[in-house]
Amino acid sequence: MIDIKLGFLKEWKADKHPLVLFVPQDASSPEGAAGLPEKLTEPLLSQARQDGFKGREGDALLVRPLNAAPAERVYWVGVGKKADVAPEVLRRSAARAVKGLEALGIKEAAMVLPRGGRSGDDLDVRAFVEGLILGQYRFDRHKSAPARNGTGPVEKIRLLLGDAGVSLQDVKEAAAAARLYAEATALARDLVNEPPSRMNPARLAEEATVLAGPQVTVKVFQGAELEKLGMGALIGVGSGGAVPPRLVELIYKPVGKSRRTVALVGKGITFDSGGLSLKPAQSMETMKDDMSGAAAVIGVFKALPALKPPVEVRGYLAIAENMPGGRAQKPGDVLKTFSGKTIEVLNTDAEGRLVLSDALAYAGSKKPDVMIDIATLTGACVIALGHLVAAILSPDKGLSDAILRAGEEAGEPFWPLPLVKEYQPDIKSKIADVKNIGGRRGEAGTIIGGLFLQEFVPSGIPWAHLDIAGPSWTDSDGPLCPTGGTGHPVRTLLRYIESLSKKG
Ligand code: BES
Ligand code: ZN
Ligand code: ZN
Repeated sequence: MIDIKLGFLKEWKADKHPLVLFVPQDASSPEGAAGLPEKLTEPLLSQARQDGFKGREGDALLVRPLNAAPAERVYWVGVGKKADVAPEVLRRSAARAVKGLEALGIKEAAMVLPRGGRSGDDLDVRAFVEGLILGQYRFDRHKSAPARNGTGPVEKIRLLLGDAGVSLQDVKEAAAAARLYAEATALARDLVNEPPSRMNPARLAEEATVLAGPQVTVKVFQGAELEKLGMGALIGVGSGGAVPPRLVELIYKPVGKSRRTVALVGKGITFDSGGLSLKPAQSMETMKDDMSGAAAVIGVFKALPALKPPVEVRGYLAIAENMPGGRAQKPGDVLKTFSGKTIEVLNTDAEGRLVLSDALAYAGSKKPDVMIDIATLTGACVIALGHLVAAILSPDKGLSDAILRAGEEAGEPFWPLPLVKEYQPDIKSKIADVKNIGGRRGEAGTIIGGLFLQEFVPSGIPWAHLDIAGPSWTDSDGPLCPTGGTGHPVRTLLRYIESLSKKG
């Protein structure tokens, strides 16, 4: 894990390690480097520019200064247009910087923090430090030989504050929070990336159990206990799997007084074959990611004890594998849920809403102040919003706005979709209370999914449904995340929980 030490630029002494400077394409000096004399940086930057470095986002160049310079080697990293330098640009640029250093075989460097340092909640600092850590994320535990392109990861960064007026303590706090966010995200990625026969329902529940500690309790319900609770939908989905389903309950209690109780409900389908309504082979290729909602909740719980928000957080993981087989549920089956409502299963591939119906009703029965479910629920959502944006569906404008804002600050975009009441009759069943698919050839699939879930949320509890089918997974390598699970929306959830502790 990368070691990040903080200090002031004016107290720093150059050594053999390179100095990393971030610079916009339309500026003549690096960002945040007020502590460096311009007579040193200006000729240095023009040397780099002569060598082809433009300063666009993604540009980077290592130079050995010809004349007097702050260090023996300077690594220039572009951040694009100065006016566009937002926290997300810093997040990506920090990630590109560590990747670039690694490719050059550099293990240690000093970096001038490009911006920020105004408070412990400084979004620039947080984004930058998240980028340093997320930029190093890899999932190579199943490779027989490591695939790193240099000699190994960057081990140590000395992060320098150019502005002497900034509080070192504030920056330290922001950096510590950022590390928790990034490590929580990395855990969620690891859980998603692990092959599905390994990350089966037993293993996923176990991954939650290991988070138990003084502030966190974890309970796993399975077999006869699930039957006794009456979780017929979770049992129905899991009945085709070789490893039986689980419901996991995690409870984080703050040390002091709790201001609010937030319930996070995660879809934990460790593999979605579609069940008897079998998916085509290609659609199955990434279906180990169908437990991304549960993985995100586990990620959040990893961070909570150290982040210490004064909020009680309860996590509910609805875990099953959705497989065909002689014991699998069949289209036409009717399931009795924890809530007492019955569901006619017409398509076994619409299984996420089934397992969540039990988990949402159970979470709701404990009367939290807020409920949020996180699910790779519908392919329709990927069609509508693509791989970069998640959908949020909520009847509660205040909650929806708070999550949208948290997502924006976290660098995990959401977009609202309406819960159109007029579509509700689409999920009425002739022989049970509801059916698990709509009537009109998949029209408004994401909204239908949300309306179905709403049936199982007790009225009066503010609730939001996050459909992360798109952004839970990326099929190309990016600066912040390689191909595979992304850990979306761990940082949004943490940010939202932190935002509750600021309000009265
Ligand atoms: N896990 C899938 C949704 C999904 C699709 C996630 C693509 C990520 C990428 C979900 O269980 C599913 O199969 N949903 C069906 C619902 C339909 C049968 C009503 C879908 O979207 O096709
Ligand atoms: Zn499915
Ligand atoms: Zn699914």
